[in-house]
Amino acid sequence: MNDLKKFYIETYGCQMNVADSEVVSSIMSSSGYTQSAHLEGADVIFVNTCAVRENAEERVYGRLGDFKHLKKANPGLVVGVLGCMAERLRKDLMESESFVDLVVGPDEYRRLPRLVENAVAGEKGIAVRLSRVENYDDIVPFRADGISAWISVMRGCDKFCTFCVVPFTRGRERSRSLSSIVREVEGLAQRGFKEVTLLGQNVNSYLDQSLDFADLLAAVARIDRRIRIRFTTSHPQDMSDKLIDTIARNPNVCNYIHLPVQSGSDRVLELMNRTYSTDHYLKLVDRIKRTIPGVSLSTDIIAGFPTETAEDHKSTIELLKEVGYDGAFTFKYSPRENTKAWTMTDDVSETLKTERLNEIIDVQREISFRKNQDIVGSTVEVLVEGESKKSASDYCGRTDTNKMVVFSKNGFEAGEYISVRVERANSATLFGTHVPR
Ligand code: 5AD
Ligand code: SF4
Repeated sequence: MNDLKKFYIETYGCQMNVADSEVVSSIMSSSGYTQSAHLEGADVIFVNTCAVRENAEERVYGRLGDFKHLKKANPGLVVGVLGCMAERLRKDLMESESFVDLVVGPDEYRRLPRLVENAVAGEKGIAVRLSRVENYDDIVPFRADGISAWISVMRGCDKFCTFCVVPFTRGRERSRSLSSIVREVEGLAQRGFKEVTLLGQNVNSYLDQSLDFADLLAAVARIDRRIRIRFTTSHPQDMSDKLIDTIARNPNVCNYIHLPVQSGSDRVLELMNRTYSTDHYLKLVDRIKRTIPGVSLSTDIIAGFPTETAEDHKSTIELLKEVGYDGAFTFKYSPRENTKAWTMTDDVSETLKTERLNEIIDVQREISFRKNQDIVGSTVEVLVEGESKKSASDYCGRTDTNKMVVFSKNGFEAGEYISVRVERANSATLFGTHVPR
């Protein structure tokens, strides 16, 4: 047995990474290590990284600079880079950051305890094989008690959108078994969790033999109706009528769908290999709105994809208005090596990308603001999360439609469902007062 004891993990990027870090914690804990919430005093530092855009990688490089100093002061420290950047850069990362001991991709976490042992003995390690089957189905992720849990239900992506590095860093799609996901949610229910988010790069292509994502959602939802079920991310191509019906029929499956459109221009969508047209997307949105009254929708938008013209950009703005999203995550196009778009000229200038991004943000903010004003005066059900980040005298929580609500503290506990009368709102938050039921 080694004499190393404490490991520390820092996580960047998407919720899949957060879920993966919980898997890593579980694997390390089963091998005799204990997790530390602090960097100071840790024997092993892991940084779980994101490679989806260049600025995500730059952040990690910045942080690695700090770890380099720690390693200088304590040469016995083991530093491991995990996740998508590890998978993408492999040997290059080890060469450019010579103090890094381990470079481990998303499908190789079972090997971490052994790799750490080797690193202590002075042997550096690179493990970046992608698997067609690894889904960590048998590993119960390590989670602190709380009200909200993230469960990864499928890994990888086969969509190959031309801008996206994920199919290269996370490999092919594969799903966990329905039975083990159900068992995991049952365990969370017993521990008092009140919200579960099913995660995957493209959850709609979940498949366990003949059981699809709608079947999974229904199975998970019936475990405990007091638990809210959320899911992300959905690809418009795979959003079936059966799934829409399942969301509508199950009261505890939240009426909120994150449905990235990426662009409002058919020409750009084609270049992105998104496999749908705006017409197809808008018809889908229409079906969703008709089947799930009051549904809330959000999206991802990329500004400045290669060849994007002012006209294409205008189509995106029009689509935002037509759908009337409740929220949008917006990004400037960032070229990623290996992707198909990498071979296209990144011909939209940085200034134009910024200009277009800002217009998208402004338009969406106005739409979100108007949608939230429509809620003012009504009473919403809120799952209490805890103290508001901005004011110690307030609490916050979310509606089923994923809107943040802030209200005065009044002896509530995290995990309680309460009714709040909404009195005012901005584009991001609703403010109100608790009303007894
Ligand atoms: N540049 C900018 N945004 C990207 N995304 C994925 N790849 C890129 C890229 N190369 C965005 C997409 C995706 C979200 C998770 O990140 O909008 O839906
Ligand atoms: Fe990337 Fe497209 Fe897969 Fe999403 S669906 S992870 S954007 S390739």
